[in-house]
Amino acid sequence: MAKLPARARRSASSRRPAAAVPRVTGKAASVDTGRLLPLDDRLYAYLLDETVREPELMARLRAETRRLPNASMQIGPEQAQLMGLLVRLIDARRALEIGTFTGYSALAVALALPADGRLICCDMSEEWTEIARRYWREAGIAERIDLRLAPAADTLAELIAAGETGDFDFAFIDADKENYDLYYEQCLTLVRPGGLIAIDNALWHGAVADPACNDVDTAAIRALNRKIRDDTRVDMVLLAIGDGLLLARPSQLEAT
Ligand SMILES: C[S@@+](CC[C@H](N)C(=O)[O-])C[C@H]1O[C@@H](n2cnc3c(N)ncnc32)[C@H](O)[C@@H]1O
Repeated sequence: MAKLPARARRSASSRRPAAAVPRVTGKAASVDTGRLLPLDDRLYAYLLDETVREPELMARLRAETRRLPNASMQIGPEQAQLMGLLVRLIDARRALEIGTFTGYSALAVALALPADGRLICCDMSEEWTEIARRYWREAGIAERIDLRLAPAADTLAELIAAGETGDFDFAFIDADKENYDLYYEQCLTLVRPGGLIAIDNALWHGAVADPACNDVDTAAIRALNRKIRDDTRVDMVLLAIGDGLLLARPSQLEAT
């Protein structure tokens, strides 16, 4: 991907607003829900068996992770495949991951990067990322991944302070939900216009639609979904894949 001149990358004020179309409210009542396809076990099994091209190594990492008590934190194979496709679609070379766990989503992204691509992974767990490192080495992509063991907000702030504004093509946010808004803002600074920010757990097991759920994590995700919906700095869509994947594309800059 050709890099924009530093001045263009840094000038947030010259962004062309993405969502110029007035929003119609109350859409839920006007949508024919009879057309929605419930993803039951049989249909999901079909989708996995017939359309997912998961490498054997990634299947093994999933199996090993399944033995951990926090296994459900890992994204599913169809989401991993989607993320790999998105990375390739935008010709990403530099990527960020906030929340790495045992390295499955990072593997999907790193395998989709070119050989000279780079992925910076943010996590705080030595124990879980030790498993990740083992699989990255086996996949032959360990040198593409720079794992930073520190609070993600600090790592992202350091990248911004180091002048890496607009230097990244892709970011995946999948860590502590309370800080999602902060990570989103930091990623908006770090990801170039026309790049992509993917935010996991945007449907949060359905809790976002339950007015009785008002815990800190649900409230944070709900507020961020709404904020991004109304954010003219990005184009956006929320995909009902996995636990909900919100995609936000920082707007292109006006030609000057
Ligand atoms: C949902 S898991 C990530 C799953 C991973 N993306 C995957 O699909 O395999 C969340 C991870 O975020 C990490 N984490 C939580 N809070 C963090 C923070 N403040 N800074 C960095 N990492 C954090 C946890 O250690 C955990 O590994």
